[in-house]
Amino acid sequence: MDHSAVKIKGLTKRYGELAALDNLSLDVNKGEILGYLGPNGSGKTTTIRLMLGMIRPTSGTVSIFGHDAQTEKDIVHTSLAYVPGEANLWPSLTGIETLHLLAKVHGQVDLDYRRKLIKRFELEPNRKVRTYSKGNKQKIALIAALASRAELLILDEPTSGLDPLMEQVFREAAVEAKSRGQTIFLSSHILGEVEALCDRIAVLRSGKLVELGSLEQMRHLSSLTIEASFKGRIPDVNHIKGVSNVEINGNSLVCQINGSIDELLSVIAKARPLTLISREPSLEELFLALYGNQPEAN
Ligand SMILES: Nc1ncnc2c1ncn2[C@@H]1O[C@H](COP(=O)(O)OP(=O)(O)OP(=O)(O)O)[C@@H](O)[C@H]1O
Ligand SMILES: [Mg+2]
Repeated sequence: MDHSAVKIKGLTKRYGELAALDNLSLDVNKGEILGYLGPNGSGKTTTIRLMLGMIRPTSGTVSIFGHDAQTEKDIVHTSLAYVPGEANLWPSLTGIETLHLLAKVHGQVDLDYRRKLIKRFELEPNRKVRTYSKGNKQKIALIAALASRAELLILDEPTSGLDPLMEQVFREAAVEAKSRGQTIFLSSHILGEVEALCDRIAVLRSGKLVELGSLEQMRHLSSLTIEASFKGRIPDVNHIKGVSNVEINGNSLVCQINGSIDELLSVIAKARPLTLISREPSLEELFLALYGNQPEAN
């Protein structure tokens, strides 16, 4: 049995000299929420457009539930719902009219659940779309997708216009979608959202996949900060494998450790520490490290 919802193989999209996406291979498992991260211009939206068959790849393939995103676009589209970063809706329809229309596009829709979402997102459904704020337009596109029973939800920065309360409503709905077995491909710049929701995270940089794994796995790539204070002599930890940035202030020691912490801990333990703190890299630290040192775009 095939456990992938999406299979991307060697996917490349060139615009002249620029590789907007460069030889991407990535599988999205059925039922998972995959976070898709990367700096501005790193190729996230390009990937999504290729998944939807909106643009042609220079090379490579995308298959969604076993169907090719280019040649079997119509079949592929019956199994997914899509929310673009900026919802382009029909200005003269009302909110609810737009939802009716989008429901026809998405096929199966849970109308009871849609009513709940309208309430939770505090959407006033009877206003004309042109009178909605940016966030409220975004809510319509989100409600339409989240109320659909599409097996795959493709969301491109879906919460960029939402306030923190609405962002929370989105998170609850995403968890509910996952619990129903829907698969979510979530491009986002909001690290808290990604941390709260995603089973795995893929990080792009300049069109290339630079990391793929769970947040826990990624944390291990980065170093742990250890702080200890001592009554007596501060042990020498400089020689220990993986230790860096050793600082000594008065009776306290601060250092970073990459890889196994066994040896460092036993050296510290022998010196009878008064206090010991270990701190994992914050998400921000982790992603600044992953996003950083970006080569100039060509
Ligand atoms: N139609 C196009 N013609 C030329 N270049 C393009 C085109 N579409 C995208 N690009 C370029 O491809 C690169 C990737 O763009 P893309 O929109 O995929 O980035 P992104 O990761 O979605 O960024 P953001 O976080 O800002 O949404 C950028 O350098 C962009 O300028
Ligand atoms: Mg984008």
